[in-house]
Amino acid sequence: MSKTRIAFIGAGNMAASLIGGLRAKGLDTAQIRASDPGAETRAKITAEHGIETFADNGQVIDGADVVVLAVKPQAMKAVCEALRPSLTPNQVVVSIAAGITCASMTQWLGSQPIVRCMPNTPALLRQGVSGLYATAQVSQQQRQQAEDLLSAVGLALWLDEEQQLDAVTAVSGSGPAYFFLLIEAMTAAGEKLGLPRETAAQLTLQTALGAAHMAVSSDVDAAELRRRVTSPAGTTEAAIKSFQANGFEALVEKALGAAAHRSAEMAEQLGK
Ligand SMILES: NC(=O)c1ccc[n+]([C@@H]2O[C@H](COP(=O)([O-])OP(=O)(O)OC[C@H]3O[C@@H](n4cnc5c(N)ncnc54)[C@H](OP(=O)(O)O)[C@@H]3O)[C@@H](O)[C@H]2O)c1
Repeated sequence: MSKTRIAFIGAGNMAASLIGGLRAKGLDTAQIRASDPGAETRAKITAEHGIETFADNGQVIDGADVVVLAVKPQAMKAVCEALRPSLTPNQVVVSIAAGITCASMTQWLGSQPIVRCMPNTPALLRQGVSGLYATAQVSQQQRQQAEDLLSAVGLALWLDEEQQLDAVTAVSGSGPAYFFLLIEAMTAAGEKLGLPRETAAQLTLQTALGAAHMAVSSDVDAAELRRRVTSPAGTTEAAIKSFQANGFEALVEKALGAAAHRSAEMAEQLGK
């Protein structure tokens, strides 16, 4: 990435976190530029990261190796169609817009090399995880550039098939909300068991953090970690048995299936 020049189209939350991650990795301010229609958004990004900003999308991509599309999915068609005459064939387009397929982008942009990514919200804290898919036109060097970009805000994982992005959306894209839901439910249950709400919340949050750290740093999988903390006839076993008797696994499978289905449905609607 030491010489890669990156242009961001859209300088909102996700672009700001990616720019912050790239700067933390040592990219020079001269390597990064961004465009956005909002004068305040441009001023904020310049103040925070010292990069040059533009109101004109055609101008910002001049000389860039990587063009990151970081606008809302609903804006993608108009942005791509307007960008098409300014793009050169050697520029790789990296899209982080949820639900916009490579086929739709190719229709709007022409036969540009495209990497489609699905990051998630913890990217804002550089604790994200992204699924990445590249079209056949993307070179090895461009794959590396896209991977380096997304790695600046967390883990980046390549996919063999674009359709798998619907599953990525279901698992990690929407995933933070599932953990928030569990945190809410455990806090409420702790309160019902007699704890002050704030204590129940702190116990739940620190447990979530500790369990995630243990699972990430362990050399055994989550199922084995769970077995290790579940003594026969103990308290944990009582809770796990209750979860399972009430169909916990089936509930999770059904919920993620609903998210993947909605992701595919939205891709079809947004691609028109
Ligand atoms: N945030 C996440 O956790 C997350 C996770 C996965 C994927 N994504 C994807 O990331 C993309 C950006 O999300 P975000 O949360 O960063 O949204 P955001 O904060 O709304 O940022 C989008 C920015 O693009 C600007 N914009 C609108 N039209 C534009 C145009 N024609 N040219 C250039 N810039 C334009 C917007 O300006 P205005 O506000 O003035 O319209 C806004 O500043 C979305 O496609 C989303 O699906 C986000």
